[in-house]
Amino acid sequence: MRLAPSLIAADFADLAGGVALCEQGGADLVHVDVMDGHFVPNLTIGPPVVKALRRRTRLPLDLHLMVANPDRLLDDYLAAGADRVAVHWEAAPHLDRLLERIRRAGVQAGVAVNPATPVELLVDALPRLDYVLVMSVNPGFSGQAFLPGALDKARRLKRLSEISGTPVEIEMDGGIDRDNMARVVAAGVDVCVVGSAIFAAGDPLAMMSELRERARPETV
Ligand code: DX5
Ligand code: ZN
Repeated sequence: MRLAPSLIAADFADLAGGVALCEQGGADLVHVDVMDGHFVPNLTIGPPVVKALRRRTRLPLDLHLMVANPDRLLDDYLAAGADRVAVHWEAAPHLDRLLERIRRAGVQAGVAVNPATPVELLVDALPRLDYVLVMSVNPGFSGQAFLPGALDKARRLKRLSEISGTPVEIEMDGGIDRDNMARVVAAGVDVCVVGSAIFAAGDPLAMMSELRERARPETV
C-alpha cells in the first residue's frame, strides 16, 4: 500500500510543515486537493501554491482536481509541478483528450469518480489511464464518514482492469482511517489517501506507522 496524506487536513497556515511531516512519516505521495468552489462547495489550492509546494519537497505531488472546468485550468497545474493529476469523470466530457494532454506533459493521468458514478463507465478510458481515484466520500471536505460502497467498487474496477487486460492503479480517497484500512487494502486498493486521520491525530507520525501496520498483507 502507498500512503498519500491529504494536505487539506493539515494546518493551511503551515503547509510547509504539513509537507515536512509527510516526509518524516515516510509518505509515498502528497495528496493535493484542488477545489474551485463550483464543482464542489469549497475553495482550496491554486497553481501558485502547488509551485511553492514543489520547491519544498521531492515527494510526488498527487493532484486531485475537483474543478468544473479542468480543460481551462489543467496547463497551469501541470506547469506548477504536478507528478500525477486526476480529473473528475463528472466534469470531463472530453476525458480522452484531457488524459492525453496530461500524459503528453510526462505526468501520470488519472480519473476520479464520485460515489454515485459506476466504474464500468471507465472501460474505454482504461488504456489512457495510469490510475483511478475512487471517492469514498462525496468530494468537498475532509473529516467525512467513509462510504463502504466504495469497497465493492474497487473490487469491480480491479476485475474490469484484469478482464480488459489494461492494468490500472486504484487509489481511494475519503474517510480512510485505522479502522477501515485493512478492508480498503483487501478490496485491492494500491494508494490510500488519508487526511484527518493523520493530521488530526494526537501523534500524526505514530498514526502513519499504525496505518502502514494495518495495511500489511499479513494483517489484512
Ligand atoms: C475530499 C478530498 C479528500 C479528503 C481526505 O473531497 O478529496 O482528499 O480531503 O480527507 P479525509 O481522509 O479526512 O476524508
Ligand atoms: Zn482528494
